[in-house]
Amino acid sequence: MKHNTMKTKRLSHSKQDIETAGKLLREGELVAIPTETVYGLAADALNGEAVKRIFEAKGRPGDNPLIVHIASLDEVEDLVAFVPPVLEDLADAFWPGPLTIILEKSDLIPEEVSAGLDTVAIRMPSHPDARAIIKAAGRPLAAPSANTSGMPSPTTADHVLHDMDGKIAAVVDGGPSEVGVESTVLTLCTRVPRILRPGRVTPEDLFEVLGEVDVDDAVLGQLAEGAKAASPGMKYKHYSPNAEVYIVKGSAKGFADYVHARVGVLAKEEAAVAALVFDGEEALLNCVTLPFGAEADSLSQAEHLFDDLRKADDLGVSEVYVRCPTEEGVGLAVLNRLLRAAEFRIIEVE
Ligand code: TXA
Ligand code: MG
Repeated sequence: MKHNTMKTKRLSHSKQDIETAGKLLREGELVAIPTETVYGLAADALNGEAVKRIFEAKGRPGDNPLIVHIASLDEVEDLVAFVPPVLEDLADAFWPGPLTIILEKSDLIPEEVSAGLDTVAIRMPSHPDARAIIKAAGRPLAAPSANTSGMPSPTTADHVLHDMDGKIAAVVDGGPSEVGVESTVLTLCTRVPRILRPGRVTPEDLFEVLGEVDVDDAVLGQLAEGAKAASPGMKYKHYSPNAEVYIVKGSAKGFADYVHARVGVLAKEEAAVAALVFDGEEALLNCVTLPFGAEADSLSQAEHLFDDLRKADDLGVSEVYVRCPTEEGVGLAVLNRLLRAAEFRIIEVE
């Protein structure tokens, strides 16, 4: 079946449309679904052929495994080799919600989902539409973020259609994603549980339940050439608009001075600059500004970051300068995504 010329249906979250989404998924089709973090590109997780199409639609490297989404805790048992006792504590505290947990997989998980690893990533989303769609499909759903591989993750149905129109059967519009960055990925397959990707559930939150938790070096660092990534997704350029992104660390005034110098240089090349600033700083800049949240409000920064990066592309600018967020709390997730969008370019100013 050819999948790159199909008409992509835009479904609502009415009961009837959710049923339609469930039916399409059972038939092996791809349906983009809203979740509280970002939109996911879902397929029947137990159907290897359907899962393969996710990789084709996204242009995703075949060695990057997918998250399996479930609607109730009793679904875990069949998907994993064994259930460690601590899973129940984590589920009590964070499920349903933006935490993905990596466990040893069972034979039920197709090769395509785990991308050759002997582990599987599992998440129980809290978004009511996501939960209703999993139930309507009647099986767990494999779903990466519903963007073209490398682009910022989609936080609206429009973002999904921008990337996936004509390549997937349908998108269910459940409104803008509330968290705005992808789930926290935690592996229980290391001696001390380890955060592979930061998200809304912070290291501090996990520490409270687990008593010990590590943060993988790749969260804020750049993998050395040839090094093996604990989470394959961390080795790819990611979340990146077409414009070049730079993080600028320093004061609001130092940021504005730096950006103005670049605006001057680029004007001669007839290229434009956008600045991602904290709320209230717009007037300091003499170029296009996209406020992405208050300086002290990491949650709001997370919510708006990907939308603003996509807006920068819509504006056709060639360079994007971003105020450096704090790495405290959910700021760690914001900084982690920005570092990848910027390919680790950080400029220090006064
Ligand atoms: O919030 C989210 O997690 C969203 C929504 C749709 O649920 N999904 C999402 O999926 O962000 P994706 O595929 O874009 O990111 C999954 C990340 C990747 O970095 C992947 O390498 C990692 O999780 N991952 C998946 N399975 C893994 C495994 N078995 N071991 C290590 N890392 C794994
Ligand atoms: Mg992704």
